[in-house]
Amino acid sequence: MQGVHRIEVALGDITRHAADAIVNAANSSLLGGGGVDGAIHRAGGPSILEECRRLGGCATGDAKATGAGDLPARHVIHTVGPVWQGGDAGEEELLASCHRRSVELAAELGCRTVAFPAISTGVYGFPVELAAPIALRTTAEGLARHEAIERATFVLFSEGHLRVFEHALAGLRG
Ligand code: APR
Repeated sequence: MQGVHRIEVALGDITRHAADAIVNAANSSLLGGGGVDGAIHRAGGPSILEECRRLGGCATGDAKATGAGDLPARHVIHTVGPVWQGGDAGEEELLASCHRRSVELAAELGCRTVAFPAISTGVYGFPVELAAPIALRTTAEGLARHEAIERATFVLFSEGHLRVFEHALAGLRG
């Protein structure tokens, strides 16, 4: 599949990942939270929240950008993933939309590299085995549309999630 060769997976803390844009798994208020949202605001400093306050929130499946404060990135792309409700509430399409919109926004911002966490697979309860292929496939499709983005890295926070994403990526590569 086009674009999939520009995707990689890695184990680590996304707040320490030097990409042009890192993607935050936010909530619709954009006013911070726990998990990776909390980590990004803690590491990036108050300037990120100050910008978020002016954005007026974000719909599930959409994405909005701010600066990155003290993070080793230029932009933070805040996207709001779906809360897992069993799979019949359009969660898969909403998760796909998060990745589509985040890649679109990264391209608009002139990013060459972008890093994603495993959106919705923490507090929001989306099973990582289902999330990984959706996240990887829609990101690959986005990279195929936006050639200027050279690389998308999925930064996983546990060995378990890394293995799931590595397996899903191998499957996508065929
Ligand atoms: N770097 C990379 N990944 C991380 C980090 C980090 N520093 N911290 C957590 N993660 C991983 C989690 O292990 C999980 O796999 O990010 C993934 C997403 O988990 P959450 O951060 O809980 O995000 P999500 O499931 O999308 O829930 C969003 O949680 O923090 C609140 O404000 C946020 O309300 C929103 C909700």
